[in-house]
Amino acid sequence: MSEIESVLVENRRFKPSAAFAKQANLSAKEYRRLCALAEKKPDVYWAQRAAELRWMKPWKKVCQWKAPFARWFVGGKLNASDNCLDRHVETWRKNKAAIIWEGEPGDERVLTYQDLWRETCRFANVLKGLGVKKGDRVTLYMPLIPELAIAMLACARIGAAHSVIFGGFTSQAIADRVEDAESGVLITADGGWRRGGIVPLKANVDDALTKTDKVKKVVVFRRTAHEVPMKAGRDFWWHELMKTADPVCPPEPCDAEQMLYILYTSGTTGKPKGVVHTTGGYMTWAHTTSKWVFDLKETDTYWCTADIGWVTGHSYVVYGPLSNGATIVMYEGAPNHPQPDRFWQIVAKYGVTIFYTAPTAIRAFMKWGDAWPKKYDLSSLRLLGSVGEPINPEAWMWYHRTIGGSRCPIVDTWWQTETGGILISPLPGVTATKPGSATLPLPGIFPRVLDAAGRECRANEGGLLVIAKPWASMLRTVYRDDERFRTQYFSSYPGLYFTGDSARRDKDGYVWVMGRVDDVIKVAGHRLGTAEIESAIVSHPTVAEAAVVGKKDEMKGEAICAFVTLRGGEKKTDSLRRDIQDHVAKSIGSFARPEMVRFTDALPKTRSGKIMRRLLRKIASGDETLGDTTTLEDLSVLARLREDEE
Ligand code: WT7
Repeated sequence: MSEIESVLVENRRFKPSAAFAKQANLSAKEYRRLCALAEKKPDVYWAQRAAELRWMKPWKKVCQWKAPFARWFVGGKLNASDNCLDRHVETWRKNKAAIIWEGEPGDERVLTYQDLWRETCRFANVLKGLGVKKGDRVTLYMPLIPELAIAMLACARIGAAHSVIFGGFTSQAIADRVEDAESGVLITADGGWRRGGIVPLKANVDDALTKTDKVKKVVVFRRTAHEVPMKAGRDFWWHELMKTADPVCPPEPCDAEQMLYILYTSGTTGKPKGVVHTTGGYMTWAHTTSKWVFDLKETDTYWCTADIGWVTGHSYVVYGPLSNGATIVMYEGAPNHPQPDRFWQIVAKYGVTIFYTAPTAIRAFMKWGDAWPKKYDLSSLRLLGSVGEPINPEAWMWYHRTIGGSRCPIVDTWWQTETGGILISPLPGVTATKPGSATLPLPGIFPRVLDAAGRECRANEGGLLVIAKPWASMLRTVYRDDERFRTQYFSSYPGLYFTGDSARRDKDGYVWVMGRVDDVIKVAGHRLGTAEIESAIVSHPTVAEAAVVGKKDEMKGEAICAFVTLRGGEKKTDSLRRDIQDHVAKSIGSFARPEMVRFTDALPKTRSGKIMRRLLRKIASGDETLGDTTTLEDLSVLARLREDEE
């Protein structure tokens, strides 16, 4: 039996309101027309999308596809920073707020498009002064401050590729990525604020640079103003270099296939993969999806809470919204500092209209309790988004009611670092949503669900999610490792992009992601995705978050072990444990009754908030060797999980 069984029943449907549909950037009629066009005349469809950007030289060919290698808008030239800045500065948007920023300690800054353009031009000249040339790779390791966006746009302006490393990583991760990218210049800060403390970014860099000799120059932005050692000849203060920098820097015409950035994603095998995105195709899709999925309007105040160190921050904090001339909110710190209401305070203070966050954050808010959001007037919100993991229907409903006031459409956006932009998502004025489903592909995207033999699965039969045709923002390769690119993404089904996710499509064609293929649990002849079992557990009123893994079992093949975090105030009792087991047996079937329910205050997660089921599998089976834990956010979680062992 190769298909994955679906056990989730979810019948709620939410249609877009007539009022929202009426004002939406994309209408149902237009959507249907675009889907048909993308199917029949893909070149025309994609050329129309690309034409929304400003090009310095027109392309000769829309797409050249020699699987697994794609080239888009061949022969065309453009500049990403020109599209995010100059295009707006030349219009009335010159004095429009581009970035509204708040630091964790409460300091505020507003940068207009003119400000952002000026700082970017000057920093681009700083980079040139340090010897950075077109095609070079520059590493950025910074807090979530406007200078991170400025540094990215400055790289793009001169045709250098950036490699952003999330500020939560420590020195070994920096050294590995600098080595792989062969990056000679690194931009950092003295530190950043997180939960009231200073993240020692510069100290981590100093340590990393004892492990690699690639970096010759380091630029340090002064953020926290605590004392940091500066190495003469290698380290330079940002503000010193900017003082004398020429403010004039015309954007470099870049080939559409010029590398815009490398972003490292932790593969399952340890060595991080450098996902490569290029300029024309990536910018085209970041621009288009921001406009369609978030319904971005001139008047919106848009907040994507992701750190810029993740792809979500690249595409939906920086490149997508700025190329649309939007006003974005950026917040440096933790969602629960000084109190668990910080996000809602920010929404109310700036009148945020569009809010995009991750299920892990939503479940944390559920755990902290409704009183925190209830303190604030959240009526400015008109659209909510979710990304990063399957959002279980209970969390979806909580988000819908408690944050969205039952009024805001929710866009559950499925995509990956590798896809560059959103591929499967509701369109807020068009698609009826079903809690827990990312719904339908965007025009031009062709997902399929296949069984192990490559046959199309029937409705509601779980299988492997692939994307059947190339799309403009797809990764071009793994940096300096074409072979890994091919085997990882194009060897399961030749010519088709393999996502690594399991999924089913229901009778309406809606996509339900069931989890990572590697996490599928085989219990008593049933193959189950983690997402559906976890959804059943979280639908118990006392539960905030759950993770399930399989544990070897003589009888059943695998037994289900559940790690469960309770909502604030709930007591961890044996009778509750039994109640949760019964609840799952009742909602899915007795075969899916978790053999073990273990209460825990926190689950082991990656720094981007994904549950690390690989580690939980080992804990469940009593295996002491946990393997690589470098991507784990909080090591103490593991220690606590082990102490809790019964
Ligand atoms: C994996 C990609 C996409 C940017 C942030 C994460 C999971 C992502 C959803 C969603 C169900 C989702 C998938 C995917 N995922 N969004 N809406 N519903 N699953 O990027 O770190 O590259 O992770 O995240 O498993 O493959 P990433």
